[in-house]
Amino acid sequence: MSLKDASPYPFGAALSISKMKNTEIYNQVVKAELNSITAENAMKMSNLAPSAINKYSWTDADFFVDYAEANHMRVHGHCLVWHNSLPSWVNSYNGTKAEWIELLRNYITTVVTRYKGRIASWDVVNEALIDNGTPRQTIWLTKIGWEYVELAFRFAHEADPDAVLFYNDYGQEYSKVKLAAINDTVKNLVKRGVPIHGIGLQMLTNINQSAQNMVDAITQTAETGLVVHVSELDVALNRDKKPEYVINPTDVATQKSRYRSIAAAMCQLPESQSWGITTWGVGDPDSWLKGSPDFPLLFDMNYKPKSCYQGVHEAFAALK
Ligand code: G3I
Repeated sequence: MSLKDASPYPFGAALSISKMKNTEIYNQVVKAELNSITAENAMKMSNLAPSAINKYSWTDADFFVDYAEANHMRVHGHCLVWHNSLPSWVNSYNGTKAEWIELLRNYITTVVTRYKGRIASWDVVNEALIDNGTPRQTIWLTKIGWEYVELAFRFAHEADPDAVLFYNDYGQEYSKVKLAAINDTVKNLVKRGVPIHGIGLQMLTNINQSAQNMVDAITQTAETGLVVHVSELDVALNRDKKPEYVINPTDVATQKSRYRSIAAAMCQLPESQSWGITTWGVGDPDSWLKGSPDFPLLFDMNYKPKSCYQGVHEAFAALK
């Protein structure tokens, strides 16, 4: 059985446009196994508005949404506001606070409106906090102030009131301080009426991380009452970054067990709170981890299912 058929929640991956267009085996796996997709890069600001203010480049994002619809998949939008992958015209934009707010409003409104009703959910703000739980120093913080977070969600909600809006971040499984800071920050915003519906846990992790920490991150995020998305999952093997690393059965077994624990923890959430799991890439060739062999994903270098794929299935089979 496929992941999407066995899973009680949507199961997806981040996809690359060039592989969607060029790699047949990749497409076969995506279509057979997944029912939710996130663009790994195609919906970032540097991709959508690469050259100038109010000049958009929709080709890849349109292709992505069309592909999802043709294959009956949900699209999770990633990401509207981030400190990374900004076009150079933003970094050099010379405006007053009011003009920066207008830039933010205009960008979010344009993008969300274009895909209204076609993109189910958005990572509206990505990685706004650092590990000690304080705001990250970003251009948005410098030019607008912390208010930028709240404004981003309000603009997105106005543009598509039906879209499920996420605050997305990493580190919940390795830092209890950051886990608490993210959840408290989001809860306080929600209490003030800011339209945030969910929290994304990137969970770009490795086998050295304990299963308990991963499960606690999911469970404690769910205690906010908001929707939970494991939004960029991978579990790297080569945590010491050794170039000579060779896969061994012990590490493979640990990787399987970690994937099983995460999939099982998501199964414990009420359906209404589970946005599902998205892995950051489909197979090991797709991983963002470059420079050392990490083998962090569910499919191998030839897109064949790995032990950790079976681990996810075991979590689903245990529900029956
Ligand atoms: O496509 C261009 C290519 O035309 C150009 O020649 C080349 C030269 O550098 O760059 C290519 O773009 C790169 C792109 O990946 C596609 O390969 C960008 O430079 C590079 O910055 C970009 O990296 C992405 C990174 O986010 C920054 O946007 C990674 O693929 C992507 O996996 C990574 O994903 C992030 C999530 O969005 C947020 N959470 C962390 C996660 C991992 O870093």
